[in-house]
Order: sequence, then C-alpha cells, then structure tokens
Amino acid sequence: MRTLLSINTFLVIVVLALLSCQNTEDLSLKQLHKSNAALNLSGKELYEMHCAACHQNNAKGVKGVFPPLKDSDYFLEDPKRAIHNILYGQSEQIEVNGVVYQGIMPAVKMSDSEVVKVVNYLVEDVNKSNQIINLNDVKWVKQNP
Ligand code: HEC
Repeated sequence: MRTLLSINTFLVIVVLALLSCQNTEDLSLKQLHKSNAALNLSGKELYEMHCAACHQNNAKGVKGVFPPLKDSDYFLEDPKRAIHNILYGQSEQIEVNGVVYQGIMPAVKMSDSEVVKVVNYLVEDVNKSNQIINLNDVKWVKQNP
C-alpha cells in the first residue's frame, strides 16, 4: 500500500513536471515572438537573424548549396518572388547565376512588415537596386499563394 501510494505520488510529480515544462516552453516561445515584434528590428538585423545562417552574412551564399542573394540573377529578376520564398519556403529546382540548386528552404516565420524590411534590405542595401517591394505586395502573395 505504501509503495503504491508513493508510486502514485511520484507519477503525479512527473506529470506535473512535464506539464510545467511544456507550459514554460510555450510561454517563452510566445514571449520570443512578442519581444521580436516589439524590438522593431531593421532589415539587416532580420536578415542576420533569419537568413544569414544559410545565405551567409555577405549574402553570397554557398555555391551549389545555398544560392546567393547578392548579385543573384534569380533574385533580381523579380524580388517579389522572394516574398513567396520567405512565406512558404521553396524546394523546386532553380538556377541562379548558371548554377543549379535543388535544396530546401523552409518557410520563415515573419510578420508582413518584417518580410518587406528584409526583402528591401536585400534589394536596396545588398544589391543597390531600386526594385523595392511594399506591404501590398506581401498581401497579394498571401491572397495568391
Ligand atoms: C535553412 C536554410 C535557409 C534559410 C534560413 C533561408 N534560406 Fe533562402 N534558400 C535556401 C535554399 C536551400 C534555397 C534554394 C531552394 C531551391 O533549391 O529551390 C533558397 C532560396 C532562396 C531564394 C531564391 C533564390 C535566390 O538566390 O534568389 C531567395 C530569394 C531566398 N532564399 C531568400 C531568403 C531570405 C530572405 C531568407 C530569410 C528571411 C532565407 N532565404 C532564409 C535556404 C535557406
């Protein structure tokens, strides 16, 4: 009887501990999203946080694995297409500056205005181009995925 009780108590504690772990995880995730939005990061900061791990800090990518976003014929052909890449990810075979890429880019979680900022950072600062995009472009892509 005694052991049974303590096993029960033990189980209750384990379950409670697991539940509380899950709760804290959820909470901290929510807080992360909140603080991110409140931080009002610049396009460059957003790029460094969400894209540079693959496309590299200098946006030149890794040949054959992660396509370049700087001086990329594919990106500059239509920067609006990048909105779709970011919102939905991309895994079809593409050719960038004559090199074939058959990789997987996961969708990146960002607010609409963050998508605008990060794409325009790439357009204006990285590529010195004037093909900037705006919030309506992001809304259009969301309505026509
Ligand atoms: C986990 C790695 C990874 C991350 C993070 C990532 N990408 Fe990509 N990206 C890729 C891969 C791989 C491809 C090529 C996909 C394919 O082969 O179809 C790609 C393709 C692209 C393309 C089209 C190809 C080109 O060179 O123009 C754009 C634009 C792009 N990414 C922008 C971004 C932006 C902006 C971010 C951050 C908001 C980002 N990516 C985050 C891996 C990543």
